[in-house]
Amino acid sequence: MKYSMIGTWKMAFDGIIIGENILKNDGNVKTAIEESISHIEDNPSFNSVGFGSLPNIEGELELDAAFMDGNDLSFGAICSVKNIKNPIKVAHLLSERKRNCYLSSHGAEKFARLNKFEFKNMLNDIAIDRWNKEIKNNFDPDNLEAYDGHDTVCMIGLDSNKNMAVGVSTSGLFMKQSGRVGDSPVIGSGFYCDSLIGGAAATGVGEDIMKGCLSISIVNRMKMGEDVQTACENSIKDHIERFKNTNYTPGTMSVIALDKNGNFGAATNREEFPFVVASENLKTKILVCKNSNLKMEIFEPDEEWLKNYDYD
Ligand code: GLY
Repeated sequence: MKYSMIGTWKMAFDGIIIGENILKNDGNVKTAIEESISHIEDNPSFNSVGFGSLPNIEGELELDAAFMDGNDLSFGAICSVKNIKNPIKVAHLLSERKRNCYLSSHGAEKFARLNKFEFKNMLNDIAIDRWNKEIKNNFDPDNLEAYDGHDTVCMIGLDSNKNMAVGVSTSGLFMKQSGRVGDSPVIGSGFYCDSLIGGAAATGVGEDIMKGCLSISIVNRMKMGEDVQTACENSIKDHIERFKNTNYTPGTMSVIALDKNGNFGAATNREEFPFVVASENLKTKILVCKNSNLKMEIFEPDEEWLKNYDYD
């Protein structure tokens, strides 16, 4: 396949259209990933990514993002940053550094200011209202779950020159503790990409995704010869089954992957997980990964399914 792109959740749709336009005109995958994710970050209706996303327990919005270039395995990541308009752009620039490429909080914000990235108040009134309501609820900070029906936006792409890249962006779990960081900016857990093999990314409860380092696990399985869909399924299955001998019930986790030839895969421990794909052979479309006892079926949702899907 000349080019290919995949993104998590239905909310990836408009972003992937932007990426698809770049890739079909022989643009670079790194530009496609940055532009696609920036578009999602700018949209206030997605409350787990960028502007308008939901804050931590203290009512502060702390964002995480990461970017990886599959050609030389360079990566950049930022975590717990406030009021950076497009965290993915900062992560992309950091991926061009040899050292100091993963920065947190004030250090990351200082880097963003020095490099003239745009700052804005990322917390909007709708998010503050949601926080005000939630803080009065008896929520259990030890049992936070991922947002229902959406979470981290992750995108993986392949361009016509066989370059691959991955990017992720999230506000993390709603009502998380201040300073809490999930899987998304953690290489190997939230994302991984090697242009000689393929890329993978994860969304869901970060603490549980990190226990299985799901993204590198998928890429390693592809390296050992598993096809991309089998690699996604086996990674989730093995990881979930590992908890069977414990008293612990893992939270929700979903993964996407793209191999070096542009074939895609997805898997989840949710009932259903929507994602978006585009390629030379496939106009941008939403697909759904359906999980029945950790056996995955991928189907194209009809109008009815889309109408009933209440989430981003
Ligand atoms: N997967 C996002 C998080 O746990 O922060």
